[in-house]
Amino acid sequence: MATAMAAETYNDKVVRQFAIATLVWGIVGMLVGVVIATQLYWPDFLGGISWLSYGRLRPLHTNAVIFAFGGSALFATSYWCVQRTSHARLFCDKLAAFTFWGWQAVIVAAVITLPLGITQSKEYAELEWPIDLLILAVWVSYAVVFFGTIVKRKIKHIYVANWFFGAYIITIAVLHIFNNIWIPAGLGKSYPVYSGAVDAMVQWWYGHNAVGFFLTAGFLGMMYYYVPKQVGRPIYSYRLSIVHFWALIAVYMWAGPHHLQYTALPDWVQSLGMVFSLILLAPSWGGAINGIMTLSGAWHRLRTDPILKFLIVSLSFYMMATFEGPMMSIKTVNALSHYTDWTIGHVHAGALGWVAMITIGAMYAMYPQVLGAPQMYSIKAIDLHFWLHTIGVLLYAAALWIAGVMQGLMWRATNDDGTLTYTFVESVAASYPYYMIRLIGGLFALAGMFIMAWNVWKTWAINRSLPAPTPVPAPASA
Ligand code: HEM
Ligand code: HEM
Repeated sequence: MATAMAAETYNDKVVRQFAIATLVWGIVGMLVGVVIATQLYWPDFLGGISWLSYGRLRPLHTNAVIFAFGGSALFATSYWCVQRTSHARLFCDKLAAFTFWGWQAVIVAAVITLPLGITQSKEYAELEWPIDLLILAVWVSYAVVFFGTIVKRKIKHIYVANWFFGAYIITIAVLHIFNNIWIPAGLGKSYPVYSGAVDAMVQWWYGHNAVGFFLTAGFLGMMYYYVPKQVGRPIYSYRLSIVHFWALIAVYMWAGPHHLQYTALPDWVQSLGMVFSLILLAPSWGGAINGIMTLSGAWHRLRTDPILKFLIVSLSFYMMATFEGPMMSIKTVNALSHYTDWTIGHVHAGALGWVAMITIGAMYAMYPQVLGAPQMYSIKAIDLHFWLHTIGVLLYAAALWIAGVMQGLMWRATNDDGTLTYTFVESVAASYPYYMIRLIGGLFALAGMFIMAWNVWKTWAINRSLPAPTPVPAPASA
């Protein structure tokens, strides 16, 4: 039995490919983020070239960081985790390879079409219908590979990380299909079948659950595997992780209308979105506490292990964003925060704090193994990356929190005679110093990514200086 199992090796080639893609797209996505942050400070930056204009580059940034960087990281870690926790090789190597090349083709298509202005004009679902179909093909293949591996697992139990990965894969398929029902009008143009308030509702049911399942559930799967692994202890409470899972997926689905407060949506739907958003605080914090408490008895490890610092601080940012989100969903608070940079500050506490940091931590944990080296070339460089990134996120988020509240207050300030105290342009002028701080924060985060690239390159060089690597055998027992 043991020999038969040992003869089977894991498919780490596709994991390595996605792990490298994560790094490459992380740099590209954050570079474009820095470019658009520069354009918000110097509007003439790269001026005159339509395909480098802010309106074209902004969706390129969101697509690159969410789907190219975040997506590649989710493919890499889910494939790694499902094999290790199932003691089984990925189901169908060819299909797994298709998911890699297909996903890269989607990204390249986005990099070409978005700057050309070809877009469905739906936020986070900008890509036109031929690319949507390719995404669908890749995603169905991903589901077959992932669940196929679960089916052929040699361990009866399905580890909780796989529950989160599984929920994210299924839900993204459903969201993608229903938000992209269109009537094509040529190769680069289509019209959605929904219109008016229904279109808005479907779009934000999609948009919010893309946050909930792509940017949250998938990365929670990552957390449930890599935090216990890096600490070398089991998850703090397995029971809590099950409650966390069911509560999170049951509640997330209903919170989307908080993106549409004070719109043409029926009032009760807006209130429903608010109530479910407030409830969402509980499972979100429960999950984060479960991750952080896994460190109990091993807190000292935070002093010496920068990978663990990435993983644990990411959870602190997750708690920050999931406290702030429910507050922003309260109608009276949303009346102040909506349309301001507060939203952008919230987004980046979640995206650059939680999503990017858990990803970077997981990648550092995985790179030596997928590159066949004993450990990362420089631990000091990981520490430097950690500090650059943390300071970068704090600068970014804090500056925009202040700018956002300031903008909201300026817009609603009135004189005794009822006229507005400030013109809109005065609020723009007052925001400039904060845009500069955001830009500096972004440059810190980007600099960290370049250090990561150097470290990965050097780690790969160690591998080349070692004798030919042997494939990793599947463990013989649970
Ligand atoms: C170097 C790091 C980054 C910089 C400088 C940066 C910069 C920006 C800028 C300038 C915007 C447009 C803000 C506006 O419209 O006023 C933006 C939007 C956005 N970014 Fe980033 N970003 C960075 C990293 C990330 C990462 C890692 C993610 C996700 C994993 C992310 C996700 C988003 C999202 C979702 C939006 C749209 C927000 C909305 O529409 O409310 N960003 N970013
Ligand atoms: C309990 C959890 C959360 C709740 C209840 C929540 C709630 C909210 C609310 C009320 C808004 C502002 C909507 C508006 O005024 O337009 C918002 C925006 C946003 N949030 Fe959250 N949030 C949560 C967690 C997160 C996390 C963890 C992330 C990222 C990983 C995130 C990413 C975003 C994005 C990208 C937007 C901007 C969407 C857009 O307008 O383009 N949120 N969220």
